[in-house]
Amino acid sequence: MNNSHSHAKIFYGISELHTVSHQGVINDAAIVIDDGIVQWVGEQRLAPDVDNSVNLQGKAVLPGWVDSHTHMVFAGDRSAEFEARMAGEDYVAGGIALTMEATRHTGEQEHIRLLEERVQAAYEGGTTTLETKTGYGLDVASEELAARIAGQYVDDVTFLGAHLVPPGMDSEDYTDLVCGPMLEAVSPYVQWIDVFCERGAFSEEQSRRVLQAGLERGLQPRVHGNQLGLGPGVKVAVDLGAASVDHVNYVSDEDIALLAASDTVATVLPACDLSTRQTLAPARKLLDAGINLAIATNLNPGTSYTSSMNFCISTAVLQMRLSLAEAIHAGTAGGARALNRHDVGEGKDSQGRPAKGCLTPGSAADFQVLNSAHAIDLAYRPGMPMTYQVYRAGHQVN
Ligand code: NIG
Repeated sequence: MNNSHSHAKIFYGISELHTVSHQGVINDAAIVIDDGIVQWVGEQRLAPDVDNSVNLQGKAVLPGWVDSHTHMVFAGDRSAEFEARMAGEDYVAGGIALTMEATRHTGEQEHIRLLEERVQAAYEGGTTTLETKTGYGLDVASEELAARIAGQYVDDVTFLGAHLVPPGMDSEDYTDLVCGPMLEAVSPYVQWIDVFCERGAFSEEQSRRVLQAGLERGLQPRVHGNQLGLGPGVKVAVDLGAASVDHVNYVSDEDIALLAASDTVATVLPACDLSTRQTLAPARKLLDAGINLAIATNLNPGTSYTSSMNFCISTAVLQMRLSLAEAIHAGTAGGARALNRHDVGEGKDSQGRPAKGCLTPGSAADFQVLNSAHAIDLAYRPGMPMTYQVYRAGHQVN
């Protein structure tokens, strides 16, 4: 190629370009972007002529992380609960109620300030695509507010009214509220519907009811399941065609068979497992069974107060026994699949939008430049500041 691209920009001097596509890892590489889209990737010596250029001086480049599971709209402080847990208390799902009060009593401007701060912190950690959920207000007005503001700051918004039954409410009455007026209020702002299908949260029957109500309004299902014990979460997710079932710490052989035969992604949340001192989700076993795997942060105030995908990837390699390539795939293309944003051909997703989680012609120009020549340093040098630059749709965001 030697045609000149006047508005295009070439990033060259890339030691390792992890395309997370059929082109694999390219050494001594370059990437050309234009108008927020990847135009070309390949060996630098074969690159097209482009006027605007950036020399990355031997750094590694990979797609920006796709964090497909966060809870970014909340207020209040649960550090004491965490400290008590580290001193030996068990995690119980009812802790969510503590955040509920603070979230309900915080105004829109303060919620926006907190959200902006959290989104920016995620970008600075190399994340370029974010999903976030409602689910800490748990009344119609607070859930509607959370959905409305979230849509202004993240790529995908999920309605999680069915996160916990607010204290003092009957669970059937609350499920009716979620499926009725609450769903109606949030519908204009959300793409996804989720339910915490777990003992102490929502039963199998209630979970199906919630997801079905969302489907009837054109929302796509995803599920929090199998976090605290074996249960119906995976089965419900697969039956309802959920894009993802998240947590999956406890999975039976039947769950594994169901996932392997489905399109539902299993999303593991290693930072959450560490923060709750749970056994890590069986990511190795899930991958070996041929299941699509995603890694996400689960940023939330109760069980995972971090948006660091780099940390999650390090943990996946060091402790979940994934190879570097598997972990990068799960944190990029895996997350994209969990949000239906993955490449289905020519760098586009199933709706014809630029795909996320890969660097291939047609995909979004979302990438992270590492402060290192080798991406393995994400795990080899855990906790070190590995993110050098982050670009989202071609614009630097860190
Ligand atoms: O993903 N599992 C349910 N929801 C959160 C917990 C949130 C909280 O404790 O505040 C989670 O871990």
